[in-house]
Amino acid sequence: MTLHSLQNVQVKKSNGPHALHVAMIMDGNGRWARQRGLPHLAGHRQGAEALRSVLEVAHSIGIDYLTVYGFSSENWGRPAHEVSGLMQLLRVYLERESAKLHEAGLRFRVIGDRSRLDQKIIAMIAAIEERTARNSKLNFTVAISYGGRADILQAARSLAQQAAEGRLDPGMIDENLFSSHLATSNIPDPDLLIRTSGELRISNFLLWQSAYTELAFSDKLWPDFNGDDLQAIVAEFRERDRRFGC
Ligand code: IPE
Ligand code: IPE
Ligand code: MG
Repeated sequence: MTLHSLQNVQVKKSNGPHALHVAMIMDGNGRWARQRGLPHLAGHRQGAEALRSVLEVAHSIGIDYLTVYGFSSENWGRPAHEVSGLMQLLRVYLERESAKLHEAGLRFRVIGDRSRLDQKIIAMIAAIEERTARNSKLNFTVAISYGGRADILQAARSLAQQAAEGRLDPGMIDENLFSSHLATSNIPDPDLLIRTSGELRISNFLLWQSAYTELAFSDKLWPDFNGDDLQAIVAEFRERDRRFGC
């Protein structure tokens, strides 16, 4: 192990002073709606409220990076009316929350294949990213049209392209260089990944990035989840002994 990677492990090993990154798979909107005899989209709408509650406490409980899974690359395969409803909801969310996110000092970013989104939404995302780029209170990242495998593939493709053009020696490709080609290049690996709704799987979220991430599962459906739930899970996480194989 090189001195540099040893130092990385030592820095990451502590649950204390380094920047804390929490990732969340916000699952269970459909079941929440079904339990109430409501359309699936009503669950997504209530899910946006839960996100607001979580964002209100995130910084105050010591979270520096919050990355949420809003729409996966596989979710494009859902019924057309659900996909268009979700896109409409995203547009309304961006319209309503843009100023609030900025005033709260949040840096907003989107990861995922945004080329599949409609032009209006792409432009809105770019505008909010630009507007909040110098904020540092909380790094809030939303994964939209995101898939972990697709992320790894695009990084591999970009490195292969550089090598084919003679600009990169394949022997120079190491974990750091590879990571810097992922969508999360400016974001540390998640320390804690929370999934709601009782499902025990990753569903193609941050695959490369979560190699040593602590996992937590909540039985609550996402629309029922709130800032207090997040605080309790983070407190439990802080008691864990992370070993990184050493
Ligand atoms: C998660 O809720 C939100 C998205 C995938 C967009 P679901 O819609 O997957 O809710 P369930 O899993 O059917 O309850
Ligand atoms: C993962 O949930 C994606 C999001 C929460 C955005 P899904 O509901 O799509 O995942 P599966 O189908 O249960 O694995
Ligand atoms: Mg689901």
